[in-house]
Amino acid sequence: MQIKTVGVVGAGQMGHGIAQVFAQSGYEVRMSDVSQEALDKAMDLVDKHLARQVDKGRLEEADKRAAFERIHPTTTLSEIGATDLVIEAATERETVKQAIFEDLLPHLKPDTILTSNTSSISITRLASRTDRPERFMGFHFMNPVPVMQLVELIRGIATDEATYRLMLEVVESLGKTAASAEDFPGFIVNRILMPMINEAVYTLYEGVGSVESIDRSMRLGANHPMGPLQLADFIGLDTCLAIMNVLHDGLADTKYRPCPLLTKYVEAGWYGRKAGRGFYDYSGETPVPTR
Ligand code: CAA
Repeated sequence: MQIKTVGVVGAGQMGHGIAQVFAQSGYEVRMSDVSQEALDKAMDLVDKHLARQVDKGRLEEADKRAAFERIHPTTTLSEIGATDLVIEAATERETVKQAIFEDLLPHLKPDTILTSNTSSISITRLASRTDRPERFMGFHFMNPVPVMQLVELIRGIATDEATYRLMLEVVESLGKTAASAEDFPGFIVNRILMPMINEAVYTLYEGVGSVESIDRSMRLGANHPMGPLQLADFIGLDTCLAIMNVLHDGLADTKYRPCPLLTKYVEAGWYGRKAGRGFYDYSGETPVPTR
C-alpha cells in the first residue's frame, strides 16, 4: 500500500502543523475541524509559515503555492474518511477522540490506516473501539511540528508489523526521524518531559525560585532552548495538567501528582500562551512573569 492522501482531524496548534508538513512533502491533505473560524486561522498560519520559508530562500514561490493548494479544509468530518491515512489531532480528551473515530468509521476505506496524535492516551484502548485495531497506531508529533525533528511511533497491542513499517516510511518521507515507544502512559517524551515541567512548578510553588530564575537556570544551566515554565506556557497548561493526570492515574505512583499550583492556573483559565496568560503575561511587547 502507498499513502497518497492524508486526513487530519483538528486544525489547532498541532493539526495545522501536521497538515503543512504533509502538504510540503507532496501528500494531498484534507483537514477537518468543527469550526470554520479555526480552519481559516489554520490556513492563515500555514500561509505565513510557508511565506517565511520563501523569504528565507528555502522554498520557491511556486512550491509554496502548490503545497498550500494541496491542503483542503472542510467542516465535514466524513470527507476525511476516503483518505489513505487519518491522523486525529483533536482536543486531548478521550471521549472526544473516541467520538471522532466512531463518526469516521462508516466513511473509511477498508484499508485506511487510523492514527492518533495523542500525547498520552492509551493507543490500545482507542484502537479497541474501532473496526481495525491492527491498522491503528499512535503518531505523535512535537510542537512546533514544522520545526521539531521527532515523531514518536506507538504500537498498540494489536498493531500489525506492516502498519508500523509503513508509518516508519511515512515519517522518513517527511524528512523527520521516528522513535518507537511502547504503549504506556505518556510514552517516552511526555513520561520524561512532563514530570520535569511539574517539578519546575513545584519549585515555584515552594518558593525555591521565581519564574524568571527557574527558566533562566534551565536555559543557561542545562542548555534547554526554553525554560520549563516558558515551555509549559507554550504547550498549554491545560495539556500539561491533562498529561500529568494520565501519568498519575495510569502509573498509580504519587511521584506523578500534579502540582496544586498548576491545577490553580488551569482553574483560572490561565492556560499559557494561547490564553494570553500563564506563568507569563503575553499582553505586552515582551512576556512578563506572573509570579
Ligand atoms: N511554527 C512554525 N515554525 C516556527 C514556529 C511555529 N510555531 N515557532 C518557531 N518557528 C520557526 C521559526 O520560524 C524559525 O525559523 P527560521 O529558522 O526560518 O527563522 C525557527 O523556528 C526558530 O525560531 P525562532 O528563531 O523564533 O526562535 P527559537 O530559536 O527560540 O526557536 C523553538 C523556537 C524552535 C520553538 C525553540 O525555542 C524550541 O526548540 N523550544 C522547545 C520546543 C519543544 O520542546 N517542543 C516540544 C514540546 S513537547 C511536545 O510537543 C509533546 C507534547 O505532547 C506536549
